[in-house]
Amino acid sequence: MSRRPQRLSHALAELETARKRTLTLTDCLGDDELMAQHSPLMSPLGWDLAHVGNQEEIWLVREAGRRPALRPDLDDLYDAFRHPRADRPALPLLSPAEARRYLGQVREQTLEVLAASPFAGDPLHVDGFVFGMVAQHEQQHDETMLATHQLRAGSPVLSAPAPPRASAAERLPREVLVPGGPFTMGTSTDPWALDNERPAHAVDVPAFWLDTVPVTNAAYEEFIADGGYDDPRWWTPGGWEHRRSAELAAPGFWFRDGGPAWLRRRFGQVEEVPADEPVLHVCWYEADAYARWAGRRLPTEAEWEKAARHDPATGRSFTYPWGDTPPGPEHANLGQHHLQPAPAGSYPEGAAPCGARQLLGDVWEWTASDFQPYPGFAVFPYKEYSEVFFGPSYKVLRGGSFAVSPVACRGTFRNWDYPIRRQIFAGFRTCRTAEEH
Ligand code: AVJ
Ligand code: FE
Repeated sequence: MSRRPQRLSHALAELETARKRTLTLTDCLGDDELMAQHSPLMSPLGWDLAHVGNQEEIWLVREAGRRPALRPDLDDLYDAFRHPRADRPALPLLSPAEARRYLGQVREQTLEVLAASPFAGDPLHVDGFVFGMVAQHEQQHDETMLATHQLRAGSPVLSAPAPPRASAAERLPREVLVPGGPFTMGTSTDPWALDNERPAHAVDVPAFWLDTVPVTNAAYEEFIADGGYDDPRWWTPGGWEHRRSAELAAPGFWFRDGGPAWLRRRFGQVEEVPADEPVLHVCWYEADAYARWAGRRLPTEAEWEKAARHDPATGRSFTYPWGDTPPGPEHANLGQHHLQPAPAGSYPEGAAPCGARQLLGDVWEWTASDFQPYPGFAVFPYKEYSEVFFGPSYKVLRGGSFAVSPVACRGTFRNWDYPIRRQIFAGFRTCRTAEEH
């Protein structure tokens, strides 16, 4: 039996889900705020809006559909490599109304291309890869747009219910053991995995102890209170230099208001920093310094993926920590349904075989690793997605945050950023090598 109808309805649903999210993030602001730059680190939201349409036109209408271009004049304006983010507000961008109309015109053609796709043959069409790629691209920009919302000053325009609290105060072990030996890292079979997740390859990972949950705000406050930001012993030379020049003293968006308690600004609301939530808005240098202060270290990317996927019972690597079932609300805090991480220890049904919790969702987790290609890496379908970023400048993040869509989240998914970045929804967990006997 052909899987084409299921593939088609899945692709359609993911494209529609992404578009709803994009419109939620942009319909809530007036034109001035959409075209303003809320931080030099970010594009105006109106740029992201038209950029997702332009990428959809390029990949679905022109490449997959082999149809004539609708707006070739937009390619330069919305090419992320031609104009750095800081320059984007000065470009002759489409107005929000023009951008919304353009998105609608592109989507009309996309639906025809989708309806005609063989879901086979051309590698772009096999299993609907290119539709999944474009849905993931739009969702990644939805996360970027949410980070822009976090940086925006002014009264709140977004709200969402808090994530569910784990029922009983369960006593979780501080750390869990991930047994030594080889496991399968990456994938050659997941149809919508992106090029940097491929191919599957065996990696031997010695036994290590991993934090059961991400480092919490309470734990991070101890590092601050212990003078962690003032002691160069905990920092790499580059980290210390950055900590001084950027005057880092606490996670992003934290402040004190005379009293002893740390407060934070979250999407325009001021609130006390919740002790039991995973820490958020720390850069790689801060995560690395905390780990050294705690007598531990950040996991490598291979360690992280082994903890998240390896099933010792079968020797297989799962797609998700809990198995191969797609993420549901019982597994992980994903999809911008809650605009904050859940308390550490939540989501028992999302636990990995090793017992670690919240590996997917809540906060991105910094790893010790630089962003490098796997052995046998092949660009697909364009080198500007991954290949141009390989090298020592970027650190890998794993797991996905509350801002990440399930379609762009799995045990193999790789994200990367500069070690100084902290507007992203990133935290971390620590580990230590297990003693040899
Ligand atoms: C994978 C999140 C690093 O935002 O730069 C969006 C995703 N690539 N458009 C980024 C992406 C092209 C990318 N990250
Ligand atoms: Fe993009």
